Amino acid sequence: MHVSSFFLLFTTLLQTPSSCAASALLPLSPTTPPHGPRDASQSPQSLQHRPRAAPNAPSGNYAPTVVPCPAKKPTVRSADGLSPEETAWLKLRRKATMAPMTEFLRRVNIPGFDAEAYMAKAAGNMSMLPNIAIAVSGGGYRALMNGAGFLAAADSRVTNATATGALGGLLQSSTYLAGLSGGGWLVGSIFQNNFSSVETLRDGSPGSSVWQFSNSIFQGPKRSGFSIVNMADYWLDVADQVSDKRDAGYDTSVTDYWGRALSYQLINATDGGPAYTFSSIALDKSFASGETPFPILVADGRAPGTTIVSLNATVYEFNAYEMGSFDPTTYGFVPTKYIASNFSAGVIPADGKCVEGFDQAGFVMGTSSSLFNQFLLNNISSAGSNVPKFVVDAITDVLELLGENEDDIAQYMPNPFFGWNNGSNPSAGHMELDLVDGGEDLQNIPLHPLIQPMRSVDVIFAVDSSADTTYLWPNGTALRASYERSFGTIANGTLFPPVPDANTFINLNLNGRPSFFGCDVANFTLRAGQTAPPLLVYIPNAPYTAMSNVSTFTSSYPDAQRNDIIRNGWDSATQGNGTLDAQWPTCVACAALSRSFSRTGTAVPKACADCFSSYCWNGTIDNTDHGVFEPTFKITNMTTAEATSSGTRAADEPTPRN
Ligand SMILES: *[C@@H]1O[C@H](CO)[C@@H](O)[C@H](O)[C@H]1NC(C)=O
Ligand SMILES: *[C@@H]1O[C@H](CO)[C@@H](O)[C@H](O)[C@H]1NC(C)=O
Ligand SMILES: *[C@@H]1O[C@H](CO)[C@@H](O)[C@H](O)[C@H]1NC(C)=O
Ligand SMILES: *[C@@H]1O[C@H](CO)[C@@H](O)[C@H](O)[C@H]1NC(C)=O
Ligand SMILES: *[C@@H]1O[C@H](CO)[C@@H](O)[C@H](O)[C@H]1NC(C)=O
Ligand SMILES: *[C@@H]1O[C@H](CO)[C@@H](O)[C@H](O)[C@H]1NC(C)=O
Ligand SMILES: *[C@@H]1O[C@H](CO)[C@@H](O)[C@H](O)[C@H]1NC(C)=O
Ligand SMILES: *[C@@H]1O[C@H](CO)[C@@H](O)[C@H](O)[C@H]1NC(C)=O
Ligand SMILES: *[C@@H]1O[C@H](CO)[C@@H](O)[C@H](O)[C@H]1NC(C)=O
Ligand SMILES: *[C@@H]1O[C@H](CO)[C@@H](O)[C@H](O)[C@H]1NC(C)=O
Ligand SMILES: *[C@@H]1O[C@H](CO)[C@@H](O)[C@H](O)[C@H]1NC(C)=O
Ligand SMILES: *[C@@H]1O[C@H](CO)[C@@H](O)[C@H](O)[C@H]1NC(C)=O
Repeated sequence: MHVSSFFLLFTTLLQTPSSCAASALLPLSPTTPPHGPRDASQSPQSLQHRPRAAPNAPSGNYAPTVVPCPAKKPTVRSADGLSPEETAWLKLRRKATMAPMTEFLRRVNIPGFDAEAYMAKAAGNMSMLPNIAIAVSGGGYRALMNGAGFLAAADSRVTNATATGALGGLLQSSTYLAGLSGGGWLVGSIFQNNFSSVETLRDGSPGSSVWQFSNSIFQGPKRSGFSIVNMADYWLDVADQVSDKRDAGYDTSVTDYWGRALSYQLINATDGGPAYTFSSIALDKSFASGETPFPILVADGRAPGTTIVSLNATVYEFNAYEMGSFDPTTYGFVPTKYIASNFSAGVIPADGKCVEGFDQAGFVMGTSSSLFNQFLLNNISSAGSNVPKFVVDAITDVLELLGENEDDIAQYMPNPFFGWNNGSNPSAGHMELDLVDGGEDLQNIPLHPLIQPMRSVDVIFAVDSSADTTYLWPNGTALRASYERSFGTIANGTLFPPVPDANTFINLNLNGRPSFFGCDVANFTLRAGQTAPPLLVYIPNAPYTAMSNVSTFTSSYPDAQRNDIIRNGWDSATQGNGTLDAQWPTCVACAALSRSFSRTGTAVPKACADCFSSYCWNGTIDNTDHGVFEPTFKITNMTTAEATSSGTRAADEPTPRN
């Protein structure tokens, strides 16, 4: 079939039933405000509540819009370097990390090491400076909350984060902050909300439904502020927003509904900020001036005609400037702001227009976490759910058209990489690019963007909340997936630190406390052009003061339980504010400095050598079967009475890890 007739047939098929259902109940005439009559009194609500990124979709709602192209038309570029925007931004950011890094190193105090003098020397040559990244894994709300605990402890703005034992300033010293699936909700929420601290988001504000996880995502926010009054209205709004996009001529999938629902909890704006775009982060003053890290979300490509996402799947990233992949398959990037323009072989035809507003923040967060589409489907259609029937019908109609095996996809149509790298890009011949949850290839920690040699990252703090074992604790599977992938042609020569098997992780307690991998740069055999990968600081979810192994499929958490899990994540990040190891903050600083030490030929201070001998995996393997892994409190049970914890999965639940 000819490509464009395929396109037409496909969009017609997709639009018909669900838009009929929607328009029967939600007549949208040109005089109706974009959000329907319920919001009329709030207009222009997006301007009233504008504390963050920006509701800059030209439509003013969830729909993408055809716009005249800028004088210099956007194009797809080869992945043979970083974008000029990222390169320019890095100059500002690296400089902005100097002061917080000096302060952090001074405070954690590495005996025998003069942090001020070292940093002063680096001021004349930025490449001496440690280049730090943080990666937050998938794992639904568990990953969001556990990851939040780490980020809170690393954030100098948070109460007590600069007290003895904590890591405040590490976040301010970091260049990159990547999230995947549930970890992407955390990173996305922080950046859509003006780089708010975890403490601010956790504590919320009157009338805001941000981080109110006690209200199930299926029930919607309870608060009367910001226009939401009841569950029916919430779902009507979600359906209304998605039909805005469909009515504008774009395919919609379950991911659109899921992403919209998520946004009510993650974006502090009326109706979950339907006009907030991911690319608007680039316009944020504090981001643009290099005062915040560089946020990245990760998703996997699903090759046309396949349903299995293997380790060979193309890994895509979204950043404020670009979306695309370093993998030798797609090997290209497109400006995030213009992703739904009709690119063909990397360019927009001479008479072609541009499209803006496809990169809705909720849609991008939903794409990275599309595995939860199934969770949405199960819950909205279950008996006892009060989701309006036409909304359930609209969502299930979408699914019937796509097919059951497609319930986890996010459709990027038109495919920005159409006709791009035809020889290697599996989607090059297709009008549609299908993306799925970034953890579907088992690489449940977003390390891929951070190991790219062009980014020259020195150290990655990898917070892992995967549910690998029977009791939903991680066992290193995510790291092993990335390690195994590094041997394939798909890795294009990018190395990854060696990691052992799952039993070794358990037997050596590598998943019971922080562990470092790839400590010794000399242990990497480098071919011409290859560089050693970053040092990996693995921070596994473990029970320090609360049982943080909550099921991926729990849809609501009382505030007390949310706070306990965030606090447990803090205790994991800080080893109980140093109670388990008073040297821990020093060891974090040593890990951050390690590659910089070798680059500059600086002798490793004794305190750091001690840290490395206690936290670096030294290559020992102990793969004897450990049996069921059931850790006990590493500090003590500090669970608040109001928090109810459920550490085991219900018998009928599937077993997703991310
Ligand atoms: C965003 O945060 C910065 C730094 O905290 C603050 O100065 C600025 O006013 C905030 N912007 C908005 C729009 O709230
Ligand atoms: C900057 O430092 C790096 C090592 O980190 C060194 O290779 C390079 O030559 C230095 N550049 C200058 C201009 O000193
Ligand atoms: C900060 O630390 C002090 C001293 O340990 C403690 O009393 C206080 O509760 C802490 N505050 C918060 C918000 O954790
Ligand atoms: C949410 O937005 C409102 C309105 O801009 C603001 O006053 C409030 O502080 C924000 N709340 C949080 C938790 O960011
Ligand atoms: C990575 O892949 C691209 C595209 O296939 C190729 O041009 C480039 O040389 C590769 N880089 C390395 C280091 O192999
Ligand atoms: C993109 O191409 C499709 C199919 O040919 C067409 O319907 C649509 O109007 C085009 N969009 C733009 C913005 O040019
Ligand atoms: C480790 O986790 C994987 C799932 O990610 C699981 O299949 C495997 O059985 C686990 N192994 C151990 C020893 O826990
Ligand atoms: C992945 O690609 C490698 C070649 O790099 C191939 O040997 C392997 O079979 C592929 N694996 C899958 C699951 O497709
Ligand atoms: C560590 O400090 C934080 C912040 O003050 C606090 O919430 C937490 O309970 C402390 N952890 C322990 C084990 O005392
Ligand atoms: C390597 O680590 C193992 C266990 O973690 C330890 O028993 C062993 O002594 C270490 N080996 C060396 C050479 O440090
Ligand atoms: C050193 O490299 C070898 C070969 O890649 C690997 O098997 C071993 O695990 C590495 N050791 C450490 C401690 O990473
Ligand atoms: C921890 O304490 C809470 C509240 O006191 C209690 O409900 C819970 O059962 C305890 N958890 C464990 C695993 O002992």
